[in-house]
Amino acid sequence: MSDIFDFEKKPDQYAVMGNPINHSKSPIIHKHFANETNQLLNYIAIQVDLGGFTQAVRNFQANGGAGLNITVPFKLEAFNLADDLTSRAKLAGAVNTLIFHDNGKITGDNTDGYGLLGDILDELNWSIQSKRLLVLGAGGATRGILEPLLKEQPRDIFIANRTPSKAKDLADDFSHLGKIAGGGFNDLDAQQFDIVINATSASLQGDIPPVPETIFAANAKSYDLMYGAKPTAFMNWSTDNGASEVVDGLGMLVGQAAESFYQWRGVKPSVKPVIELLRLDMV
Ligand code: ATR
Repeated sequence: MSDIFDFEKKPDQYAVMGNPINHSKSPIIHKHFANETNQLLNYIAIQVDLGGFTQAVRNFQANGGAGLNITVPFKLEAFNLADDLTSRAKLAGAVNTLIFHDNGKITGDNTDGYGLLGDILDELNWSIQSKRLLVLGAGGATRGILEPLLKEQPRDIFIANRTPSKAKDLADDFSHLGKIAGGGFNDLDAQQFDIVINATSASLQGDIPPVPETIFAANAKSYDLMYGAKPTAFMNWSTDNGASEVVDGLGMLVGQAAESFYQWRGVKPSVKPVIELLRLDMV
């Protein structure tokens, strides 16, 4: 029967899988996107047991699921499970979006870097070109943002990490895309940057990476990939030490969700109203 007579068409089913997942904002974000773009879909959060990821994805697919977001700690498993990967997912080494095809194949994508760049360039109106960038941390979060940052042609990027060798290795992996180097926090003495991005997980414990207080150039911006109802410790530290603009990662969260939505539905939702709504909800 053609769709035109299918009065009882069921909403397409999407979900985010992670552990823990109870505080996920993805269901509310996608509900807003669906309303705004008139898309008939449901989006839920599914807590998956460690060790149960592949089975959970297969069950979701067998039950007619249309697509998934993947969050901590399953982004690497999603990368390995996908039948094929977008080039940005390959470079990120992780997958946050699974796209299910009618033939049963699954494409793995990564929209995190896109989300960050959308926030920085379109929402915050910061310019990256010719700027000196510092990225703190050398884990999965950093790997996911380096390619889109380098595409904007900063003057250079320095990755500083508690374990300096990880920062150096990561810089080597991306050196074909632009000027990038890595090292430890000690290497930051006497250096100044225009944009500092905290991609460590230190904020989760309320910690601040041990960075010299002199890193901010005049008019420098500071971005913490983490977000919360209150400014993170790193955000407060940035304000105290001269950053002119200090933001959290809520815009990146909404931006990565919007790009996943676009990959699934072919329609681009607006991010700004959803960022504003979430911000109101958190205070
Ligand atoms: P993610 O996927 O969020 O990047 P990850 O791959 O575990 O998570 O990486 C966490 C990053 O935060 C690492 O760069 C880690 O430093 P190490 O590589 O030396 O472990 C960094 N990190 C975590 N806690 C930190 C802290 N308290 N101070 C500074 N760096 C920290």
